[in-house]
Parts: sequence; structure tokens; C-alpha cells
Amino acid sequence: MTDPRNLTRHAGSVSRRDRERLLGQRGAVVWFTGLSGSGKSTVAHALEARLAAAGRLTYVLDGDNVRHGLCKDLGFSPADRSENIRRVGEVAALLVDAGVLVLTSFISPYRRDRAQARAILGADFVEVFVDAPLEVCEARDPKGLYRRARSGAIPEFTGVTAPYEPPEHPDLHLRTATRSLADCVAAAHDLLAARGLLAP
Ligand code: ADX
Repeated sequence: MTDPRNLTRHAGSVSRRDRERLLGQRGAVVWFTGLSGSGKSTVAHALEARLAAAGRLTYVLDGDNVRHGLCKDLGFSPADRSENIRRVGEVAALLVDAGVLVLTSFISPYRRDRAQARAILGADFVEVFVDAPLEVCEARDPKGLYRRARSGAIPEFTGVTAPYEPPEHPDLHLRTATRSLADCVAAAHDLLAARGLLAP
């Protein structure tokens, strides 16, 4: 690791506020957390479509995509998941500095890792708990992974052989087993508006 005493930050003459003014929006992160199959990516992408239709510059960071590139060296041990979430938090912070509305879709099972992401982003961070009972996620099993995990083919699978720590005080709690997608998207959109994150 580089000694921080040997590093100097460059400010540049164009600030985050300048970039936000240029885009006519505020940078922020909507952090979706929940079990595999709970609906994180579905809600994130539907919310993104609504925001983009309203002229917002958005970007979805999704576990299944990021793990093909930025985090391809990481597995699913607790340490690797922490590192995954640390990197995602840092990338989200860079995108926020660029003025982008970022939507992240990661299981992010550990409270401590999510708290660290929140600590980097402060008031620009909104945590959304995408909550569906394990039985529901398992019945949906969109990628066939629960079936494989139950057969023993995938070790440390969240909800089966690895833990998920639900948020204690999420900014928004979406129960996707009993609430429609449109309703979930509307609730997330309303929260952003109420927090002033959609103000120009
Ligand atoms: S996290 O725990 O580090 O936040 P992340 O969201 O990036 O996980 O990746 C989760 C996705 O990886 C799941 O949706 C699933 O498709 C896949 N996956 C593969 N192995 C596992 C595993 N052992 N536990 C959970 N998800 C897994």
C-alpha cells in the first residue's frame, strides 16, 4: 500500500458543483442491498429508466457486471465481499463527484461494509433494503443458483451457507414479495425527491 504521506490530492479548476451545474442535477448514490433474487437489479434498472426519461444522467453499478471486470479477482469470502463493496463505494464516490446519480445493486451482506460506503458518501447516500423472504428468492431462483447452492456446488452462498445482515435503519424498506415493481420504483423516486436529491 502506498504511504499516504507520499500522495497529494489535486483539486483541478472544475469542481463537483461546476459539473453538477453543467448537468442540472445532483450526484448521489442509491444503494440497493438484499439477497440474490430479491429484486435489487430489477428495481434499480426500472428506477434508472424513470430517471433517465426525466433527463437525469444515471449509472447502475451491478454485482454481476462489476465482478466481470473491476472485481474479477474477488470471490465470496467475507474478506473478498468487503473488498468488493469497498471498491464499489469508492467508484460510486468518483461518479458522484462527476455529478452522476448512481444506483448500486450488490448483495452487500455485511453492515460494516455498507456503513463504510455510507461514511464515504455522507448525505449523498441512500440505503434501500430490497427485502424478500429467502423462500421467495429461492422459489424465484432466476439464475438457478439457489438450486446449485443447495446441492453443494456453490460454497458460501448468501442465505444458504453465508450470512446476510439486514439493515437496521434503511432509508427505505421495499418488500418486493408483496409490493409491485411500479410501487417500489415510485417509493424510491419519492424518497430521492424528498431528500432534495432530484433538485436541480
Ligand atoms: S456481494 O456479497 O459481494 O455484495 P455481489 O452482489 O457482488 O455480492 O454478487 C452477487 C451475485 O454473484 C449473485 O447475484 C450471484 O449471481 C453471484 N454469486 C455467485 N456466487 C455467489 C455466492 N457464493 N453468494 C452470493 N452470490 C453469488
